[in-house]
Amino acid sequence: MSDQYVLPAERLRELSDGNRMPVLGLGVWQVPDGRECENAVLWALEAGYRHIDTAQAYGNEASVGRALQSSGVPRDEVFLTTKFYPARKDPAEEIERSLERLGVDQVDLYIIHWPQGGSTWAWPGMERAHERGHARSIGVSNFSTSELEQVIGAASTPPVVNQVQFSPVEYRRGLLAACERHDVALEAYSPLGTGRHLRDRAVTSIAERVDRTSAQVLLRWCLQRDTIVIPKSTHQERIEENARIFDFTLSDEEMSELDRLDQTGGTEEARERKWW
Ligand code: A2P
Repeated sequence: MSDQYVLPAERLRELSDGNRMPVLGLGVWQVPDGRECENAVLWALEAGYRHIDTAQAYGNEASVGRALQSSGVPRDEVFLTTKFYPARKDPAEEIERSLERLGVDQVDLYIIHWPQGGSTWAWPGMERAHERGHARSIGVSNFSTSELEQVIGAASTPPVVNQVQFSPVEYRRGLLAACERHDVALEAYSPLGTGRHLRDRAVTSIAERVDRTSAQVLLRWCLQRDTIVIPKSTHQERIEENARIFDFTLSDEEMSELDRLDQTGGTEEARERKWW
């Protein structure tokens, strides 16, 4: 496998298992299966994204797979993530269904979507999926520091990623520090606050100052906080806009100004309100 060598080094993050992951991806949460999802993925690949993030629970893996195939981009140049739906029993079994829907032999990253029923029960099944070569890397999502540490304590193959809600307004400093301590990459979902943070006064004022859009400022903040970021959009011009974040830098003052938007108190929790 060539392993995303076509991307420049600054767009890749080396994970603790040695695999490399593009720091920008397209998230397809809440994108309905079908044309809308296929288009979003195709536009992202056209715009240079090489990382797509889906999940069993999203119900759109088949569209992601169709778009991947029709894009003509070689499979080994695209980093593909899916997530184990933890209402099911066996991650190793469920990934086989994901692979069928996606039309691929393996995913690049397979993560437990949320710690329903406890943080460790599903991990042996994740490790089985990894051993069988169905997932090149394995990780978790929506895990707090203590949940992450429980998995690490129980694991033979430790998680390499924790995907959590993360933005200047949800700047989970304690959780980010724990991830860094354990060599787990933090992946930021809802980096635009599902759109809400785009209108924040501090964000719009920095955007004006640096002559960028609010979305670009929020995404750039994530990159400069050393996280991987997966904005969602179904509009071609926004997908393109969200990829133009590698050609400018926020100053230390701008970063601190954004840091101050945090409403989590620098928490080690992954969610303020849980749905499980
Ligand atoms: P849409 O999909 O209609 O383009 P998040 O990534 O935090 O979940 O945010 C996703 C939300 O932000 C979606 O509602 C998406 O709308 C919107 N969005 C994504 N990128 C942009 C952008 N560049 N400008 C404005 N809105 C955006």
